[in-house]
Amino acid sequence: MLLYLHIPFCDSKCHYCAFNSFTSNHHLKKEYLKALLTQLDYELEYFEVKKLTSIYIGGGTPSTFPVPFFEEIFKRVASLITPLTEITIEANPNSAKKEWVEGIYNLGVNRISFGVQSFDSKKLKFLGRNHTPKMAKEAINLAKRIGFKEINLDLIYGTKFDNEKFLEKEISTALTLPITHISAYYLTLEPNTPFFDKEEYLNPNEEVGYILKELIPFPQYEVSNFGKKRSIHNLGYWKLQPYIGVGAGAVGFKNKVRLYPPSDLKEYLQNPLKKEKEVLTSQELRLEKLFLGLRSCVGIKENLVKEKKAKLLIKEGKLIKKRDRFFNPNYFIADELALFLS
Ligand SMILES: C[S@@+](CC[C@H](N)C(=O)[O-])C[C@H]1O[C@@H](n2cnc3c(N)ncnc32)[C@H](O)[C@@H]1O
Ligand code: SF4
Repeated sequence: MLLYLHIPFCDSKCHYCAFNSFTSNHHLKKEYLKALLTQLDYELEYFEVKKLTSIYIGGGTPSTFPVPFFEEIFKRVASLITPLTEITIEANPNSAKKEWVEGIYNLGVNRISFGVQSFDSKKLKFLGRNHTPKMAKEAINLAKRIGFKEINLDLIYGTKFDNEKFLEKEISTALTLPITHISAYYLTLEPNTPFFDKEEYLNPNEEVGYILKELIPFPQYEVSNFGKKRSIHNLGYWKLQPYIGVGAGAVGFKNKVRLYPPSDLKEYLQNPLKKEKEVLTSQELRLEKLFLGLRSCVGIKENLVKEKKAKLLIKEGKLIKKRDRFFNPNYFIADELALFLS
């Protein structure tokens, strides 16, 4: 079973970000921990969990949440963790201090993901980040020294800064660091953020993803993910495996049903067991499988699509057949293929 835990606190809000996170409610962290534990206990029973294959602690910014709070959470799941459980935590370079990184490593977290976004100070300012390139490098080196073997960094690309030369520098800098995985996200201009509708912030060159792919030496196993080792958690999502979502705005999935706890912090604190349910129709499930399978190494089952259309794509080299599944050799055109096959 996969478990996602959401920590909705951030030190500041980045200009592009629409994730559920708050910068002014840090005094509610203790109360939030209590609510998290209440929901966690409930979900572990509801999902009848015997073993956790992955725990992913995301945000917001988990590195703003104190180690003793995570200790409480880990006590609850200790009997469900095995030596093979992938335990990932997201961290921001400005708040991942030595004590915190050491603390979570000692709790058994074995994968750390840093929100670096860029190694260029001007681009970081433009994105509204509150760390410097130096802080990002130091945080990653620190994690390695402390003992982390699996280290990811998140980058954002496709901004007005990102021409070929600029990206070469971003990736060559990343590769001087002891990382094993890169998540590179194309900048999305999200509604309700200062970046919304600012098309001029993007690099109009559609080839930018291909340039990036050439530069990253790790295998690409999803449109935005490159790794020496594939993340168990990511793969689980793309295979539409059931997952537990604990926290304000976290999403769970079980038996065709999506479960949404409140995303409003106060509402979640009042009732962490409240949930909205969305039952997916078989057509919606089929579309999910198409979109997720084609943008990743998961692929799609042969019987999910019309034979005639699939044959056409195979002829054009846009689909590869292996046993009873189809695979997309170019994740950057996944949505186009999924629409054609839907
Ligand atoms: C859940 S976020 C938070 C991680 C962490 N708080 C951080 O920012 O350092 C995970 C990643 O999503 C990416 N992201 C968030 N909003 C985005 C957007 N509008 N466009 C592209 N990538 C985005 C960023 O790379 C970010 O690191
Ligand atoms: S990108 Fe990360 S640090 Fe920035 S506001 Fe979003 S969750 Fe917080």
